[in-house]
Amino acid sequence: MLKRGALGLTVWLSLGCQTPLGPSDAATPPGDAQGGAEPTDGGPLANTAPLAYTPEGCNFMVRSAPMTRGNVQGDTATFGAAPTPAAVHANWASDPATTVALVWTTDADTLASAVQYGTAMGNLDQRAVGHVSTAGNNSATRVTAHEVNLCGLRPDSTYYYRVGGEGHWSEIQSFKTGPAPGQSGYDVNFVVSGDSRNGYATFRMLQERIAMVTATRQPDFQIFSGDAVLLGTNQIEWGQWFTAAASAMRRMPFIMVHGNHDALSVNYLLQFAQPQAGVPEQDELYFSFDYGPIHFVVLNDTPYRGDIAGGIGGTQIQWLRQDLTRARANRARVPWIVVNHHKPSFSSSNHSDANDTLFIRRNWPPIFDEFGVDVVFNGHDHQFELSRELDAMGREVSGRRGTYYLISAGAGAELYPTGNQPWRRYSESVSNFLVVHATERQFEVTPYRLDGTAITEGRLSLQPRSN
Ligand SMILES: [Fe+2]
Ligand SMILES: [Fe+2]
Repeated sequence: MLKRGALGLTVWLSLGCQTPLGPSDAATPPGDAQGGAEPTDGGPLANTAPLAYTPEGCNFMVRSAPMTRGNVQGDTATFGAAPTPAAVHANWASDPATTVALVWTTDADTLASAVQYGTAMGNLDQRAVGHVSTAGNNSATRVTAHEVNLCGLRPDSTYYYRVGGEGHWSEIQSFKTGPAPGQSGYDVNFVVSGDSRNGYATFRMLQERIAMVTATRQPDFQIFSGDAVLLGTNQIEWGQWFTAAASAMRRMPFIMVHGNHDALSVNYLLQFAQPQAGVPEQDELYFSFDYGPIHFVVLNDTPYRGDIAGGIGGTQIQWLRQDLTRARANRARVPWIVVNHHKPSFSSSNHSDANDTLFIRRNWPPIFDEFGVDVVFNGHDHQFELSRELDAMGREVSGRRGTYYLISAGAGAELYPTGNQPWRRYSESVSNFLVVHATERQFEVTPYRLDGTAITEGRLSLQPRSN
């Protein structure tokens, strides 16, 4: 499908999960034929330049996605016909120990973009304001998202917050900040899920199951491995996705990995606030951060087709090598290196020999191998799979010299059959999620089926590398 990407470049997007779609077999996104043009119907948001500002008390700049109209607004600004905040959630746009980004949607006329927060539910004594952006050219694609960044938070602390503005506040929700850098003895608990598209009822059940399985230990956050919706420009689908995720988002931040179905859409970029790696074309699509004993890297394997070499094999690799060089040097303090991206290099299911898979496999695993990445989490092939311990070529190695690849996909999307490849240790065609528990000395992954039973054959328990 030829479309104008969210960042204003003309691109070919591959939305199919089998092979990239050509121009003749692609469905046209609703109301978005050559879409993505800026709204032309005026309205209250007159500022057409992308925003770039430093939120109060923060040491980083927020850049909104281009092709939006937006303003920094307070809590008494204009309210439209549907001012009640929807899709309220927390992300991280910077250090998880001291910052958070709170994001929600309203109708396009509501400008109020404020947050009240505090460490006691009954005392939201602090206040911050943020910005509002609107994009999309009709009712099916239009998105109005508000984002407020909070900085200077206390590490390892639960915060309560509500968003909106005077007279139109959301319900109170919560999130927890990460541990202080170097905080010893911290144990991290997080969840990995992915690929919910078309299956929002299942996605909701999966989130309910996650809550049951983790009832005794609240996850610190959830990593979503991509393909949230069938078509990233369809705001109606995003509404369904956020509704299904609401119970989880009331309690934990989400870290999003960009999938091919998310389609580089402005809807994706506006509704999630993530770190900006300093490469404007890839803002919020690839980045890294430390959380306790783990260095997390998120990569984007659906870059612009016109720049696939730059996106996967060029600019992003340069950034990745620099990032992993720093992470490796910091390994004594932060022992685990974990990479997340959508399309698996080593799958034995539908996409094991797809062209894009082969391209990624040639480019990224050699770097993972060189820098000693411990674990890679992927989505895209709708099943669960755990690899053997692998070198850059996908050959089995031993003794913590290799990398483990885990696929957690099928949080609602139709399942694919399992397959067999030499790199596969175990796979199962089942809706699933992963629960990860990590300390400085241990990294444990337990996969679960939608019914709440553990996939014991897919368990992984690692001790740190000796180097
Ligand atoms: Fe995918
Ligand atoms: Fe998928």
